[in-house]
Amino acid sequence: MGSKTKTKWVCQNCGYESVSYLGRCPDCGQFSTFCEEVTEKETNKKTTSAAYMPVTSIKEIELDQKTRILTNFEELDRVLGGGFVQGSLVLLAGDPGIGKSTLILQSCNKICEQNKKVLYVCAEESTTQVKLRAQRLGVNSESLYVTAQNCLDEVLNQINEVRPDFLIVDSIQAIYSETILSSSGSVSQIRECTNMLMRVAKEKNITTVIIGHVTKEGNIAGPRVLEHMVDCVINFEGDKYKTYRLLRSIKNRFGSTNEVGIFNMEDTGLVEIKNPSELFLRDKELEPTSGATIIATVEGTRVLLLEVQALVAPTSYPAPRRVARGIEYNRLLQILAVLEKRIGLNLSKKDVYINVIGGIDIMEPAADLGVALAVLTCEKDKVIPSDMAIIGEIGLNGEIRPVSNIEKRLREMEKLGFKRAIIPKVSKSLEGKLKTFDIDIIQVEKIKDAILSATK
Ligand code: TYD
Ligand code: MG
Repeated sequence: MGSKTKTKWVCQNCGYESVSYLGRCPDCGQFSTFCEEVTEKETNKKTTSAAYMPVTSIKEIELDQKTRILTNFEELDRVLGGGFVQGSLVLLAGDPGIGKSTLILQSCNKICEQNKKVLYVCAEESTTQVKLRAQRLGVNSESLYVTAQNCLDEVLNQINEVRPDFLIVDSIQAIYSETILSSSGSVSQIRECTNMLMRVAKEKNITTVIIGHVTKEGNIAGPRVLEHMVDCVINFEGDKYKTYRLLRSIKNRFGSTNEVGIFNMEDTGLVEIKNPSELFLRDKELEPTSGATIIATVEGTRVLLLEVQALVAPTSYPAPRRVARGIEYNRLLQILAVLEKRIGLNLSKKDVYINVIGGIDIMEPAADLGVALAVLTCEKDKVIPSDMAIIGEIGLNGEIRPVSNIEKRLREMEKLGFKRAIIPKVSKSLEGKLKTFDIDIIQVEKIKDAILSATK
């Protein structure tokens, strides 16, 4: 009996499947992303390969104390929630050339030191290229094994041979399996290869890092489809024109997801930045300018002091422009509306541009007051002292709402030599603690009070 070839149409952006060609993906909305892929007959798949897993009461499961594998980088460990969990599957995603291979290769030294055998599958580069890079990065462990293999079936054989504790697949887009009929780099290949790797990782308790490229256009099968399969997704991002890089955790089954690690790309590889605020702040000796404020934002467990700049300029368009870089666009509109209504600032004939220095996106509303004061001081040509930092969420009635982690933010300000701070009114219980800071703290309840205090 001849087996029938089954095909399906798969969106190469999000992995949506359809029986026929579609011009626009109903799931992700992208156009012309459907490709025909040959699928294996479902019945050919053997189900007997599943390992026997006993049923255990949760009380009886014993925790191994050494389940975390640490790397050279405290920043990476923190983003992972305290190092790699033994046997977990981690997706390291990012734009090509951002430094994913460098980050993981640099981490290998420390991993090998912990008596772990590492297998590095470099599907994109030759072993000499990896050796050259490793030399530059000072990575020279005996228990780091390298193979330039694209075929997953061979990789699985090598895993059986080498029996690694830690596996790196660089990158998943360059890997293919002969058992899957669709072409290399397609969504089906990527998904199935990850599936196979996941099975091996869980069965053999191998910590696995899968590297995946993302492109803005989404033409190449993006690692988005893998997000639900893996235990952790960490994203390596950065500005192409700057040397620092942000490592962000997007999904983490073993830790918090809003941790950020900051690195600098240097000649000898990535270097951690332990005190990032210094990197993003202007020299306090410089003359303060109008339209600039310093805010304290919390990213995960760390506080970042950032400079927010605003530019308010007469518009030459019928509808004035609002440009927000680093904060949410709708938040900016809301802040401007509050300024217009509660302060009487007329911005209807003005373009407003906001820029958070350092290319960092601020997610929390605690930056509202800083943004509002930047806009206001630019428009009124006033200057906020350069040793003053500002925190506070703005409510629609112009009230300043409390924010979390106020002590933590103040401590960071103190550490960096700030002398004045404008903060929301705090509760009685916190009042006493504020006295311990060597900062002149001004508590405000209304946006009007904040303006008066900042521009005195
Ligand atoms: P790479 O890790 O190859 O990126 P990815 O794996 O994400 O595609 O690193 C790419 C860039 O990093 C490359 O343009 C050169 C730069 N780089 C340095 O500046 N210093 C170094 O020590 C290394 C290894 C790379
Ligand atoms: Mg690479």
